[in-house]
Amino acid sequence: MRTVNHDVLLIGGGGAGLRAAIAVAEANPELSVAVASKVYPMRSHTVSAEGGAAAVIRPEDSLDAHAYDTISGGDWLCDQDAVELFVREATEEMLRLEHWGCPWSRKPDGTVATRPFGGMKTERTWFAADKTGFHMLHALFQTTLKYPPISRYDEWFVTKLLVEDGRCEGAVAVELATGEVHAILARSVIMCAGGGGKIYPFTTNANIKTGDGMALAYRAGAPLKDMEFVQYHPTGLPFTGILITEAARAEGGWLVNKEGYRYLQDYNLGTPEPRPVLRSMELGPRDRLSQAFVGELKKGRTAETRHGHVVHLDVRHLGQRTIDEKIPFVRELCMKYEKIDPVKEMIPVRPVVHYMMGGIHTDLDGATPIAGLFAAGEVACVSINGANRLGSNSLTELLVFGARAGAAAARHAADAPAPSQSVLAQGLEEEARLQERFLDNRGGRERMANLRKELQDTMETSAGLYRDEPTLKAGTEKVQELKERFHDVALEDPSLTFNTELQTALELENLLDVAESVLHSALARRESRGAHQRTDFPERDDREQPAHSLAYATTGAPRIDYLPVTITRWPPAERVYGEPLSPTSDPVGGSAPPEDGGNQE
Ligand code: FUM
Repeated sequence: MRTVNHDVLLIGGGGAGLRAAIAVAEANPELSVAVASKVYPMRSHTVSAEGGAAAVIRPEDSLDAHAYDTISGGDWLCDQDAVELFVREATEEMLRLEHWGCPWSRKPDGTVATRPFGGMKTERTWFAADKTGFHMLHALFQTTLKYPPISRYDEWFVTKLLVEDGRCEGAVAVELATGEVHAILARSVIMCAGGGGKIYPFTTNANIKTGDGMALAYRAGAPLKDMEFVQYHPTGLPFTGILITEAARAEGGWLVNKEGYRYLQDYNLGTPEPRPVLRSMELGPRDRLSQAFVGELKKGRTAETRHGHVVHLDVRHLGQRTIDEKIPFVRELCMKYEKIDPVKEMIPVRPVVHYMMGGIHTDLDGATPIAGLFAAGEVACVSINGANRLGSNSLTELLVFGARAGAAAARHAADAPAPSQSVLAQGLEEEARLQERFLDNRGGRERMANLRKELQDTMETSAGLYRDEPTLKAGTEKVQELKERFHDVALEDPSLTFNTELQTALELENLLDVAESVLHSALARRESRGAHQRTDFPERDDREQPAHSLAYATTGAPRIDYLPVTITRWPPAERVYGEPLSPTSDPVGGSAPPEDGGNQE
């Protein structure tokens, strides 16, 4: 096993990882930084983000309004100190990104253009047409190139975190091109490896999103926080699950059922007319819109297609010019993948797994309970998203908390002792495990494709948009069975060069751990909140202070613990959408909770 040494190791080369790498390089140019990613950074999933990134920029807007929208959208599970910090640092990060080359769309007068987004009661979502993630990732990637201390390890797959005496001192990685196993030793490690939507069968997530970072940290002893909260985006293309961005609704698109009726008005999400009302209906929060789809399904008002039931997104009234200017990617995707032109036809859509609100438990600087291990981006839970993330907060989150994690990891690396040589023994053990458990294991009877399909189907039936105790219990038992069967998995390819079969096995191992944490956390939470809807406990439980779940790996079922949510200025209140805007309903600048109980969205 070869060993490489750095001061800071980044695992994951997407938006959070690259932002963190730049932060380390800027904080302390003496530190050497490694970015290890299983894909070339520009292929990270950030590239596929479409609609935009939120930050206060308009004079009519305010930090408190952004904070309040986020907290109420998150059904009061967000840590409010994290949210307040997030909205404070968001705008500066977004402007910085422009200086690094991100071409934010502009209004005719040259100021930054914004669009409304679901659950945000004013326009604060910056965008670069509808390829925002692509442009952000480009800007970050090219900026990393100007820092010589940043070394890249592209297509290196991390299989284990090296933790000795409670300190993270690096990781073991397989160099995919050669199959060689390496130890990357570092004084600080930042996990930025994204989410794990591939535990579900139908998702906007790329195939690479297998929860690797969450599983690595979980196995190393870090708790996974709020894993029961899995976001369904209301508008995915049937069959492929490709995202049709919320920007299509922000620009004025309508959701209609098979009768051509804008059904969201039946779900306490406002009415189409009269205006002015707070933006809602199609711009309500994602949890409510996805749940409304299920309502329509039950009423028999969805349309049946060969890829399941759908409703339709109608953007025809926007006209070709607006579609081509504001949401060109929507048109491109519909033409390529559905063979329809949204200028003339309605787009079939249905809810699709999009994002995990949960992740590795961190503090405001991205520090996890394991010394020297930091996390940022979707892999982490800081937590600003609570029980339901508002669209466009996550791109800004990866900037704000990527930067903070980078700065904190740099400070830690400057003071931490060099990794102990004894940690290398763990590296050798991991190398042997990979060889014996996978490459030399010829006799297995289980096929990975079967296990993965069974896992994904189990997640959809047990922990989909609605859950209850019997389905969740059945899910935990099934995942336990799959974990046992995984020991008997067959690998037929012993080769070392780009052994995709080995990678698939390692990813499946990660999916199983992440799924386990989701199911057990969901089973333990006996209430409905945001994206976690229990039909057997249909109400939000406000009898006690809201609490985050923490899932700890054990040799058996995970141990679930709780941590109180930090409430600063906005005690739990009702979430109400589409209410008329009244002069007293704006929480901006107020230090007390709104008198009407918070019905501002
Ligand atoms: O619909 C979208 O463009 C998704 C944005 C997000 O998840 O933040």
